[in-house]
Amino acid sequence: MAKSSRQASKLSIVGAGAVGTSLAYAALIRGSANVISLYDIDKKKVDAEVRDLAHGTQFTSSVVMGGDDIGVVKDSSVVIITAGAKQKPGQTRLDLAATNAKIMEKMMPGLLKQAPDALYVLVTNPCDVLTVVAQKVSGLPSSQIFSTGTMLDTSRLRWLISKKANVTQRNVHTTIVGEHGDSEFPVWSSATISHVPIRDWTVSGKKVFTDDVLDQLAHEAAHAAYEVIEGKGATNYAIGLAGARLVEALLAPARTVLPLSSVLTNYYGVSEVALSLPTLVSSAGIERVVEIPMDPTEVSALHLSAEQLRASLAQLGY
Ligand code: 2OP
Repeated sequence: MAKSSRQASKLSIVGAGAVGTSLAYAALIRGSANVISLYDIDKKKVDAEVRDLAHGTQFTSSVVMGGDDIGVVKDSSVVIITAGAKQKPGQTRLDLAATNAKIMEKMMPGLLKQAPDALYVLVTNPCDVLTVVAQKVSGLPSSQIFSTGTMLDTSRLRWLISKKANVTQRNVHTTIVGEHGDSEFPVWSSATISHVPIRDWTVSGKKVFTDDVLDQLAHEAAHAAYEVIEGKGATNYAIGLAGARLVEALLAPARTVLPLSSVLTNYYGVSEVALSLPTLVSSAGIERVVEIPMDPTEVSALHLSAEQLRASLAQLGY
């Protein structure tokens, strides 16, 4: 539970790589937090990134700070962790588990010392596995440590659907749940465009979302990152925007439902692994994982996703 000693509206981003700096840039442009602090152990790189961002603050409403001293995260409201090894072409997110779990184990105690009351958000992959690792290492409640999870995948899916449906993404209502990775899946059983069940949506009088099309869209959304990584070596802008949006939700007075990954307790029988599901958040962090209707196929897919992550955690000794 968030405590009052958190400084109002300070976002710290750990890791000044492509993801961390894109997140900082997105948060700066959107005014997601009053203070944006960037921390990295590479002094030359982080100093240059902070300076480059700060040079633009005449045109924004936030202050930028940062450096290689962990003290720059002190009194944060939100700490977002992006540091760690990133996927190379051909690698899955789970391939990064051992390397990045070690980084979390090493880094968490120092961060907690500076910002014990912050909300912690894992972006580093595999984010679901690392959420469990970071929660165990930190001892924080699952309301205070969670991951962007499938926020990005859901945005990718809604973009794909909006193109096919010929309507803005804001009218597309569906969520990708499960692992932020290969075993994720959309909850098609409750998907709608406006109020229309997705399978009944028509373009030029014809139903366009057949089962084959839905399968193809789910596959494309789940594999989108591989294509971007193949083309440019990383994904950074969209996750930067997703992270900035999450920060806004965590700092806003209203409560918001977003697809986030947190350690579950008996959600359709799943416990002790972190998976993404629609999650109610506020400045207190996670208030609850929302119980959503799922058909038997979706429940099986959720269990399968949980098994994949459990296996990865077991390999790490968690
Ligand atoms: C993404 O989905 C690689 O997890 C990263 O873009």
